[in-house]
Amino acid sequence: MTESTFIPGWYALLPSHALKNKPLALKRFGVDLVLWRHKNQEISVLLDRCPHRGAKLSLGKLCDHKIQCPFHGFQFDGQGQCALAPEFNKALPGLKVRSFAVKEAFDMIWIYWGDAATHFEYPELAEIHTHFKTYSTVQKIWHSHITYCIENQLDYTHLRFVHKTTIGRNFKMPEHPRVIATQQKITTYFDQQEPAMTFLFNNTWILNIGAQMKLVLYFCPIDETHTQLYLQSYRQFLSLPIIKSIIDPLMNLSNRIILKQDQAVVASQGLLPSYLAEADTLMRHDQAIREFRKTWRDLLG
Ligand code: FES
Ligand SMILES: [Fe+2]
Repeated sequence: MTESTFIPGWYALLPSHALKNKPLALKRFGVDLVLWRHKNQEISVLLDRCPHRGAKLSLGKLCDHKIQCPFHGFQFDGQGQCALAPEFNKALPGLKVRSFAVKEAFDMIWIYWGDAATHFEYPELAEIHTHFKTYSTVQKIWHSHITYCIENQLDYTHLRFVHKTTIGRNFKMPEHPRVIATQQKITTYFDQQEPAMTFLFNNTWILNIGAQMKLVLYFCPIDETHTQLYLQSYRQFLSLPIIKSIIDPLMNLSNRIILKQDQAVVASQGLLPSYLAEADTLMRHDQAIREFRKTWRDLLG
């Protein structure tokens, strides 16, 4: 694998409902992946390249719990091990496709990017996902490295400018913002006790709009210059199915407008990862961004 600009760790990849009991091709981290859901609901994620002669496994079909390459019929199990080589009519233990540790949580599919998967634990997401009644989702692809997409959400000083016609119209700059950063999360407090926003490494941002509403935004790296965003607006109100079908499109429309306001200006920052922007002059209110760049650089090793 070529040198990555993506730090090791767990990343949400795509919503659970997008994966069925058939092969799905998905590009993430600049790499072609194949995913499938087994009949018992377990999920497997492999590199989408047959180790025989390079055909895409995602073009093949599932045989029981294995995937069969469309080219010469080799079969691989969920861990990527060759379970059948037709010309020998037996398994080939030495033949393996790279597999990834996978979790399904909060209606998202996650994989561990890196060598040795660490413990999967996101209590903040568990709390929201368990206690909120409903959510709506907006998807967008941005033409930027994941780091610039994340920084855009850590940055509240842009609200009065980029979003002056929407959410930034009445935004009051905090007088005494506080940022608490670890290698697991970056929490920004405005002038209240409650966090205003929390970034959970590696790709999840939570905005605390109050007891009735939270936003969760997942940044899924497609490759070095494209990022898939999934924005989930969790709410405690207007959740009955008939009302939800009316409210969700309205909420999504407003979120689409806001993300569009961000997109053009973020793309103008360039296509390289943000931590390489050494000429930037970060200010007092850029503390979360400063911490983010430092942690990303440190975790990249
Ligand atoms: S390329 Fe996959 S079985 Fe030959
Ligand atoms: Fe914004």
